[in-house]
Amino acid sequence: MKSNVTNLRPQPQFRNVELAEFVTLRVDNYYRERVHNTWAGGHIMRGRRPGPDALQLCSNDYLAVARHPRVLEAMVESLLRDGNGLLMSGIFVHGACPHTELEQHLADFMQAEAGVLCQSGYAANTGLIQVIAGENVPVYADMMAHMSLWEGIKCAGARPVTIFHNEAEHLERQILRHGPGVVVVDSIYSTTGSIAPLREIVDICEATGCVLVADESHSLGTHGPNGEGLVVELGLAERVHFRTASLAKAFAGRAGFISCSRRFADYFKSESNPAIFSSTLLPHDIHGLAATLGVIRQEHWRRERLRENAAYLRRELDALGYNLNGSECQIVSLESGTEQNTIVLRDALESRGIFGSIFCAPATPRSRALMRFSVHAGLGRADLERLVAVCGEIRDEVGLAAWGSTRRKQRGRPAPAAASAQEVAAA
Ligand SMILES: Cc1ncc(COP(=O)(O)O)c(C=O)c1O
Repeated sequence: MKSNVTNLRPQPQFRNVELAEFVTLRVDNYYRERVHNTWAGGHIMRGRRPGPDALQLCSNDYLAVARHPRVLEAMVESLLRDGNGLLMSGIFVHGACPHTELEQHLADFMQAEAGVLCQSGYAANTGLIQVIAGENVPVYADMMAHMSLWEGIKCAGARPVTIFHNEAEHLERQILRHGPGVVVVDSIYSTTGSIAPLREIVDICEATGCVLVADESHSLGTHGPNGEGLVVELGLAERVHFRTASLAKAFAGRAGFISCSRRFADYFKSESNPAIFSSTLLPHDIHGLAATLGVIRQEHWRRERLRENAAYLRRELDALGYNLNGSECQIVSLESGTEQNTIVLRDALESRGIFGSIFCAPATPRSRALMRFSVHAGLGRADLERLVAVCGEIRDEVGLAAWGSTRRKQRGRPAPAAASAQEVAAA
């Protein structure tokens, strides 16, 4: 008779179909170069499991609304009432319905004529660049622009022109050389929290006849008087052609958005690949996001607390000697440099109950891996003091003094934009 354990847990043995050599070479290379040589058989992203008293700083729920009762109630009500709705592509959604109403509410909020909901920020960026750029159109992308914008350039078959990080003068020189095209930037950069010089970029785009796309993923909800984003905060809403955003950050949902004109919104829905070839949002996504929009507009204290928390953390970490690469917002990163250094940093933090997000190639240049802390409004002063105390305690253990970023800070030098532009473009 078979044992109970065997009966309960059958172990089927399936045989894998053999892969062609051109694939196995790539897979083998990953295991050899990254897993074995760089991560010593482990995985850089997989450290300890957070315990019950862990301080989690890896969520982009900056305003701490993911468990807001009004949001959860709206989602549960919708699930029970609507189920999963009609499963279909966005191209089929039109006329008055919760989906199009939310599009208009988000557009009004962002001070735009219209807008399009997408399945994610990634789909918004790839779809948008695909339908505005083309074979002979130069796309000027900040070297740290989000990967989805670079992917959009590939989808469009357009010509990428890499711009040194946040260097408006370099942008202008490149446009004068290659001609008018599309300029793509993040309002706030997701790895280091640096902020784009949007006023200068807008002036350059207007003077040269370029179309500007600003990715507001990390500023929508957190910046602007009511969370309308950085573009509105700077009074540029009527001068930026397109704003995109992931609604998986301060909006704590699963969706993306593009602000645009009414005429363009219809064009996008009929021509962009993600709108045609991928299924759209589910009803409870829509109702949850509609409730979140209300919370974001009304609960100003969340933005205030976020700003205070982030300012405190930046000030304290800077005083401890960490180079925060000019962060001016809720994204605060420790640039440990090599992936090996970053594993040491991860272990030092996690063994003391601190969990951030590791960013390494292809999200950063190879030599500039980092640990990102996403500050949020739900953190209290005791949490932040604990984080600061740990960051102070581990300085020798992680070799802070020898990090390239620390030496740059001591020399008073900014991040080396030119040295890593090709690396990022290649990533
Ligand atoms: C700047 C930026 N744009 C776009 C995205 C993609 O957003 P999503 O996660 O909704 O696909 C992200 C998220 O990683 C991001 O940081």
